[in-house]
Amino acid sequence: MPLSVHLTSKKLISEKEVEVLKKKAEKTLRHLKLHHREVSLVFTDNKHIKKLNTQYLGRSHPTNVLAFSFIKEKSSISKLLGEVIISVEKAKEEAEFYRLDFKNYLFALIIHGLLHLLDYNHEKGYFSPFLMLRNELNLLKKLAFKKGKTEIINFIKRREYMPAKLAVNVDHVATVREARKTYYPDPVHAAVLAELGGADGIVVHLRLDRRHIKERDVRIIKEIIKTKLILEMAIDKELIKFAKEIKPYQVTLVPERVEEITTEGGMNLEGRVDEVKKVVKELNEAGIKVSLFLNPDEKTIKLAKKTSAQIIELHTGMYAEAETEEKREEELNKIEVAARLAKDLGFVVHAGHGLNYENIGPIAAIPQIEEFSIGHSIISRAIFVGIKDAVREMKELILRARG
Ligand code: PXP
Repeated sequence: MPLSVHLTSKKLISEKEVEVLKKKAEKTLRHLKLHHREVSLVFTDNKHIKKLNTQYLGRSHPTNVLAFSFIKEKSSISKLLGEVIISVEKAKEEAEFYRLDFKNYLFALIIHGLLHLLDYNHEKGYFSPFLMLRNELNLLKKLAFKKGKTEIINFIKRREYMPAKLAVNVDHVATVREARKTYYPDPVHAAVLAELGGADGIVVHLRLDRRHIKERDVRIIKEIIKTKLILEMAIDKELIKFAKEIKPYQVTLVPERVEEITTEGGMNLEGRVDEVKKVVKELNEAGIKVSLFLNPDEKTIKLAKKTSAQIIELHTGMYAEAETEEKREEELNKIEVAARLAKDLGFVVHAGHGLNYENIGPIAAIPQIEEFSIGHSIISRAIFVGIKDAVREMKELILRARG
């Protein structure tokens, strides 16, 4: 028998439902030409999967599916291909939250796990994420249950796994210029060199006090770069007018306090959804995408959905500043959970603040994050190695974290 099924608690799912899913899983194995191999499928709860996630992957939260593949174990004489473990409890929570048919969602998780057993990996490499997604969609199109089929396919499509990009913030070149109120070093030159080093976008923060970047910098950078310009700014009438005139690719809305050294936290959307929504609409109508800089917090991300913003930039500052390993792990977990939620809600997910050459790895490994916004550490390193190399090194670390 190629598929053995284990159910750890009958409270979560009935044996009849398990039998139906087993049949689907067997069909999937036949489609994948794996009917001669054995697979163990376990239906369990959050407590159990959390324990396994912590023990084997160092991620201390309950996840929906885990897969342990034995495909590379050359010494193994057994036909066992691997084990797929699904938290029915987590799947139920997620299916309810995303309004998906429960059975089809469980089936999508089975497919996801089986593809992992075959060494497909959406978290690694450049092509593997696309291949995994294509296979998931093909199998769902052929085999999903009729009820809620379109919804589950659209949901998985939205999860498209993207290679990571690096947007370089050149504010601090202007900080050095403004220290002496000279005309050098020029952030415009930095932007060009950052692109030559492999930057996928250039970020400038036009602060209310214009302490570093000035309107002139934004105008010229927009004119000459070949990638995209991302304008960071607070919600302010004059700045909105300026953004509409310059038309950057994206505006990232950030909170701003006059006395702060740098952006201190994500936006507080409590009681401000309508105001932010209006700004998003105004900028979108000018052809500009809008990103919201937010703390990795479930409530805020759900509120953000109501603003119609396209992108969320998750604040990584608390992770970067964590003083103990334990705290860092806790903050990393929050970012992982928030990234998954934001992606599943249909946002494009970015992350930034305080990221450097030492701490980028675990953040860059989060597959839902498509872009990293990094300034201070790159410009600091550039003093010693030049901008091109500083950008190239950071980009390499990001790509390496993805496999
Ligand atoms: N993202 C946002 C929203 C920011 O305000 C900043 C700082 O300007 C960054 C990213 C970059 O942070 P850092 O300079 O620490 O890399």
